[in-house]
Amino acid sequence: MGAAIAEELQGLVKRPVRVNEPMSRHTTFRVGGPADYFVEVESVSQLSSVIRYAISRNLPCMTLGSGSNLLVRDGGLRGIVLSLAGEFKNIQLTRLGARAGSGARLSLLVKKCAEAGLSGMEILAGIPGTVGGALIMNAGTRLGEIKDILENVSFVLSDGRPKTLNRKDISFDYRKSLFPEGSILVEAAFGLKPQAPSVIMNRIRQALQRREKTQPVSERNPGCIFKNPPGDSAGRLIEQAGLKGRRVGAAEISRVHANFINNLGRARARDVLSLIEEIRREILQRFGVRLEMEVKVIGEP
Ligand code: EPU
Repeated sequence: MGAAIAEELQGLVKRPVRVNEPMSRHTTFRVGGPADYFVEVESVSQLSSVIRYAISRNLPCMTLGSGSNLLVRDGGLRGIVLSLAGEFKNIQLTRLGARAGSGARLSLLVKKCAEAGLSGMEILAGIPGTVGGALIMNAGTRLGEIKDILENVSFVLSDGRPKTLNRKDISFDYRKSLFPEGSILVEAAFGLKPQAPSVIMNRIRQALQRREKTQPVSERNPGCIFKNPPGDSAGRLIEQAGLKGRRVGAAEISRVHANFINNLGRARARDVLSLIEEIRREILQRFGVRLEMEVKVIGEP
């Protein structure tokens, strides 16, 4: 059964289809069990045909960005995991804006806009991940969120049909967006302003330096674990509770920023999840605050 599906999928795409692909290879946390079928699509037509195939076989199908902000459980993912390559990584600059494929690296887009003298995108400097992932999470920094510079987004609906929506017709919130259920983002257009490249580059350098000082950027982690509670900082609360350095297995609360959990070696998702539960319990008891997850937890136990 598995081999037949892999073969049929291989008929739809050019890049090699991988069976039982460990998700620890595809997440910045380096944690996660295997995906049944790991499929890289390079064009919208390949994407649509894989979606239609998944529907016909009743296989679950999800899209992976660069694997940041994600915790995949140890049992892995059933069905198809799509990775967006080829034309999904395109970046095109215009006089007053940029168009980027959802699979493009956000950091590359930030850099290209700065070099071209287009200002606005630099508010996102330092955020890991892809353009698509950043849109779904409404990623942001203290300087703003991706929704602030967005003009429109094109995507493929869960039945394979294409659609484009303007910014004003998409609802965004703190680390949250509401795209139609099951849709896959294809590309987005952003509105930017002319500015001297050196000025933009300076802002980026400052943001990256600040991030490097305050966050464990070169460790294996998914980014901030919890959303900030209204008016406060999850990192501050966790530090105040004396939890920095707390460990379960190879999962450790960062000593640099307490809203990060680092994978020190071969951490399992179950270790990370029990550390997360410990933090939530402690913060609720001490401060009466219920911390909400920012990192998306998916897959089977
Ligand atoms: N703080 C502590 N101890 C810590 C961490 C932070 O006391 O261990 C204090 C800091 O001293 C500061 C306050 O908490 O007074 C806020 O900390 P910081 O400026 O580092 O920002 P943050 O609120 O913790 C948010 C975003 C980050 C984003 C930064 C910078 C969330 C959950 N976090 O962090 O986003 O990089 O601002 O813009 O919204 C992410 O989304 O994955 C993420 C890391």
